[in-house]
Amino acid sequence: MVTGGAGFIGSNFILNFLKQSDERVINLDKLTYAGNMDNLSSLQDDERHVFVRGDIADRRVIKRLLESHAPRAIIHFAAETHVDRSIYEPEPFLDTNVGGTLSLLTEATAYWNSLEGEQKERFCFIHVSTDEVFGSLGKEDEPFTEDSKYVPNSPYSASKAASDHMVRAYNKTYGLPTLVTHCSNNYGPYQFPEKLIPLVISRALGGEAIPLYGDGQQERNWIYVDDHCQAICKLLESGKQGEVYNIGAERSRSNKEVVQTVCSLLDDIVPKESSYSSLITHVEDRPGHDLRYDIDSSKIDKHIGWQSSVSFDEGMRKTVMWYIENELWLNRVLSGEHAQWVKQQYGE
Ligand code: NAD
Ligand code: DAU
Repeated sequence: MVTGGAGFIGSNFILNFLKQSDERVINLDKLTYAGNMDNLSSLQDDERHVFVRGDIADRRVIKRLLESHAPRAIIHFAAETHVDRSIYEPEPFLDTNVGGTLSLLTEATAYWNSLEGEQKERFCFIHVSTDEVFGSLGKEDEPFTEDSKYVPNSPYSASKAASDHMVRAYNKTYGLPTLVTHCSNNYGPYQFPEKLIPLVISRALGGEAIPLYGDGQQERNWIYVDDHCQAICKLLESGKQGEVYNIGAERSRSNKEVVQTVCSLLDDIVPKESSYSSLITHVEDRPGHDLRYDIDSSKIDKHIGWQSSVSFDEGMRKTVMWYIENELWLNRVLSGEHAQWVKQQYGE
């Protein structure tokens, strides 16, 4: 069972998983502004994918699904995920990321307690968390490890940190077999164009200003979404219960470098008279903006045998091509609530 499977990473995970397996996937998703069934249109007639619209905070729905489908694992992606939205309105982040995760954990524990033998031993609750719970690194600091201190700085990361602590508590107190992942910034197909990379691509293609917060020197460690999905598939098979794993790619890069890379790729693929980089506009910084995230993934490499395999150059080219080739997907997203959000943010 997957939660949040109509979102960016969840849908990529389901599409990836069903390329490698014939096992049925139950997908529980509330379809907030970020959930998009277009992402899963290729599975429309595929009996291996069972979609259920529902809220992870609704214990009755979860109980019913667990009892009727008896999943061997829960992979929990569902969350409110955009930092800027969390600054604007924190409550939904508390409701879903903390309250929803708590409901899911409570019903998962009751379900796990009802299992016996191999089914009980095999069950695992995978909680998909983020590197943002570790706060901000200085330019010269070593990357985050699994033992880094929790120092969340935004309402989003604080809500993810709280949910991580609840997962730990359910493991320690009730024995629920859990596993927590901390992944860095994902990019790739089907990402909602409020996040940096798809936002830059869509605005550049539309000839609109590309907003770069502050001086653009903040750094993130960018991982191609397929690599993240592959790491979760591996953890599903051989992750150790009760453990925490970091997941990331090569090295961190400044936002300025990332935005310039997108512009150079567009200059190459769909050239215009002047470079797309002329659209880059420095705007007011994000309040509490974390300077740098970088992540040490040596534990998952050593214990599980996973490493990222898509280089930044390859992943970025594939991503830019995908958004160009899937203009219809982009336009359908842009004509919805995202347009209102953009209006609120940028007054257009
Ligand atoms: P997303 O915003 O694209 O998708 C979230 C999905 O969750 C949507 O389909 C939405 O409809 C669903 N959802 C939201 N509230 C729900 C609720 N109450 N009940 C059921 N479904 C609900 O998010 P994403 O970027 O795919 O992130 C997925 C997970 O990975 C999140 O937990 C996030 O914290 C984590 N993560 C994301 C990144 C990243 O770079 N995007 C990096 C590390 C970790
Ligand atoms: O690190 C993992 C996290 O990455 C996930 O847990 C979050 O769910 C995900 O949203 C992401 O958080 P960020 O805040 O790092 O991602 P975002 O794409 O919003 O921003 C990336 C960087 O780009 C950040 O430093 C802010 C900057 N930025 C962002 C936007 C939207 C801009 O300069 N301009 C923009 O318009």
